Amino acid sequence: MRIGVLTGGGDCQGLNAVIQAVVIRGSQYGFEVFGIENGYEGLVGGKIRPLKREDVEGIYQIGGTMLGTSRKNPTKTEEDIKSVMENVKKFQLDALIVIGGDDTLGAAMKLYERGIPIVGVPKTIDNDLFGTDYSIGFWTAVNVIAEALDRLHTTAKSHKRVIVAEIMGRYAGWLALMGGLAGGAHIILIPEKPLDLEEVCRVIKKRDEEGKPYTLIAVAEGVKVPTTGELAVAAAERDEYGHVRLGGIGKFLEQEIKKRTGKQVRSTVLGYIQRGGSPIAFDRVLGIRLGFKAVDLVKEKKFGYAAVLRGTQIVPVKLSEVIVGEPRKVPEDFFDYVTTFTE
Ligand code: F6P
Repeated sequence: MRIGVLTGGGDCQGLNAVIQAVVIRGSQYGFEVFGIENGYEGLVGGKIRPLKREDVEGIYQIGGTMLGTSRKNPTKTEEDIKSVMENVKKFQLDALIVIGGDDTLGAAMKLYERGIPIVGVPKTIDNDLFGTDYSIGFWTAVNVIAEALDRLHTTAKSHKRVIVAEIMGRYAGWLALMGGLAGGAHIILIPEKPLDLEEVCRVIKKRDEEGKPYTLIAVAEGVKVPTTGELAVAAAERDEYGHVRLGGIGKFLEQEIKKRTGKQVRSTVLGYIQRGGSPIAFDRVLGIRLGFKAVDLVKEKKFGYAAVLRGTQIVPVKLSEVIVGEPRKVPEDFFDYVTTFTE
């Protein structure tokens, strides 16, 4: 069999572990594996090359993706869909393994419906995909956030300041919640819970009165600005999947909290640091296991499925269970944790 593999959407830690595992498992079965460059861009443009075991040796521990990635949507035009079909034929690919988040796997589902044999692997630091307990990259990003918050703690305490850390995650609060908990944020703000500025200031003042004149706030980039009810947008230009670039809620909070409490407030955007660098052991092992399973599914001709983590097992689920048309949000039973360190 000849298998093509690609990574699409935002990069994250652990992608290379999946790629390495796909090549190793493929070679165990005597399959030929082909790397498709820069996500769907390479599939549409025919940038496809053989991947041998020596090409992927030792990459499991390196961040990013050795194949490159893009936010190209191959299903936006009939012309691109046609190119995809032609390239699959031209390179004689019997199956594609597509490693991606909601956009990439959503496009994979459409291509599968057009007859392309596809197996998916869920990845995203945002952890906003259904069907899987966690997506690759999430826990590494949580680790990065926790470490950043530890560092912000000491400077906030020294200066008796409020420090606001703006955290990625798009429309879901998983990163801010788990990163905020692990890093001991005193206030955690997530998109799933409307922002109450008065409550935020009350907690800050209460901490002051209790002799703790510093506060660390973890805010998800997808928290809506309470005065407008809109998302804070850093760049309004939309990508091929229709997303704007979020950013600015941290700055908004800095100004509002300063105005309302008179305290020194600073904000910082953790940004792309959350996505870069080496995966932690969890994401390396998860990536390797998912890569193996994806090839096993190809061998079984179980197309239209994704390899996912359920409990401690790697299992197949239909792509339609992963991509349901909306992001997986933090459910209400997690809301108690949001106030863990406030009171
Ligand atoms: O989906 C991952 C993510 O890092 C989001 O948390 C963030 O909003 C977005 O990607 C940033 O996108 P880009 O890489 O296109 O700037």
